This record gives sequence, structure tokens and C-alpha cells, in this order.
Amino acid sequence: MAEVVIVPDAATAGGLAADEIARLIRRDPGAVLGLATGSTPLAVYDALRSRLVGADVARVRGFALDEYVGLAPAHPQSYRSVITREVVEPLGLDPARVRIPDGSLEGIEHAGEDYERALVDAGGVDLQLLGIGTDGHIGFNEPGSSFASLTRVKTLTMQTREDNARFFDSVDDVPRHCITQGLGTILRARHLVLLAFGEGKAEAVAGAVEGPLTASLPGSAIQLHPHATVIVDDAAASAL
Ligand code: GLP
Repeated sequence: MAEVVIVPDAATAGGLAADEIARLIRRDPGAVLGLATGSTPLAVYDALRSRLVGADVARVRGFALDEYVGLAPAHPQSYRSVITREVVEPLGLDPARVRIPDGSLEGIEHAGEDYERALVDAGGVDLQLLGIGTDGHIGFNEPGSSFASLTRVKTLTMQTREDNARFFDSVDDVPRHCITQGLGTILRARHLVLLAFGEGKAEAVAGAVEGPLTASLPGSAIQLHPHATVIVDDAAASAL
């Protein structure tokens, strides 16, 4: 059963998660962070800036959860660009130590396997940040994803493409495919920290925390993890 922390707002949630990450980095300057994209973790990255002042981050490693397939790495909405802009640059991380799945068409055949190997070589993820989609996806593991899945290419659902259309000119510009860590990959991280804000996430949060373990709601996989923390605001907690 995940530990659920209900807070008044996103800034408080971001502060709690940032405290945990800063403690980890001060204890282990070579810590491996699991990085998430989307609007939710921005509160964490914002809060981390002040918490890491004076900390040695030169050896911190990062692994992103997912990437769109077929977007040029330099596209402003590729997750490589987003992680660089929102995390690597503001926190002063070494870009060479932060890895994003390879969503290029040329590399796609081996990208999943390569990413899994890199995660193992790094010793695994110490703390994995997670958001959750309105359909319950984590990473880009859409409903129907196996709990044992590893990093692989997936097709995005129309709902996710519509949810993410706000970052693009139109829904037609949102890629149809992605490469994402699997649920099995995510479950190997030593600590999961899932955040969610707003009423739109309430059903997904309730399903993930209290619903049956089901591939129809991929976030329910966190119930299998021995150390999962869920930090939500009142609205996202409203269906619990
Ligand atoms: C995307 C990401 C997920 C994220 C989800 C929710 O689909 N791949 O990792 O959790 O969006 O996004 P937001 O936090 O913007 O609601």
C-alpha cells in the first residue's frame, strides 16, 4: 500500500518531493534520479533549485521515463528538450549523465534494450518521480500495458494525445508513438514518488492507490512496490 500524503497545493507537494531528492543527493552525490516530464513535476524541479544550492551535483545521474518517437531531439517539445530546459540547465546537472530514451527512427530497433542495459549499468534508479495521466498511465504506459513490461515503443491513446495537444499547435502535431520505460522497469526503482494535482486526476489517483491491480489502470502497479509515496493536493485526493 502506497503512503499517501495530501497537501493543500502543488507548491507544498513539490517542496516535499524536493526535500526527499535533496536529502538523497547529499547522502549519495552519485544518486540516480528517475525524471518525469509533464506539468506535474515542474513544482518539484522549481523547489529543488533552492534546496540544491551548495550541493555537489556533478555526479548525479538522471534517466527520463519516456520520449516521443519521431520528433527531432531539438524540437522544443521532445522530452530531451524539456528535460534539458526544465531540469538539467536549472539544476546544473551534467548533460552527459542524463539519459533520455532514443526516439529517433534510426535507433528505435535497439533503443529499448539499450536503455534497459544503461539503467542496469547505472545500478538502477534510486528515486523515480512519476506523474499520472487522466487515463491512469504512468510514463507512457497506456491502459493494457503489462506489469512486467520493459522499455519499448508504444502507441499513444487519443486521450493522451488530446491531453498533450496543449504543448503543440494542434492534436495532429502530437506524435502517435512513444518509447517508454515499462511498468516492470519503473517498479525496479528503489523509491517511487507519484504526484498529482487537480480534480481531473482524482479518478486516476483513486484507481492507482485503492483500485484493483489492473492493466486497465497502469498506475495501480505502484501497489506492488514496497516503497511508494503518493503526494496529491486536495482536489486530486477527492475520490479517495
Ligand atoms: C505525459 C507523460 C507522463 C505524465 C503525464 C501527465 O503523458 N508522459 O509521464 O505523467 O503526461 O502529465 P501532466 O503532469 O502534464 O498532467
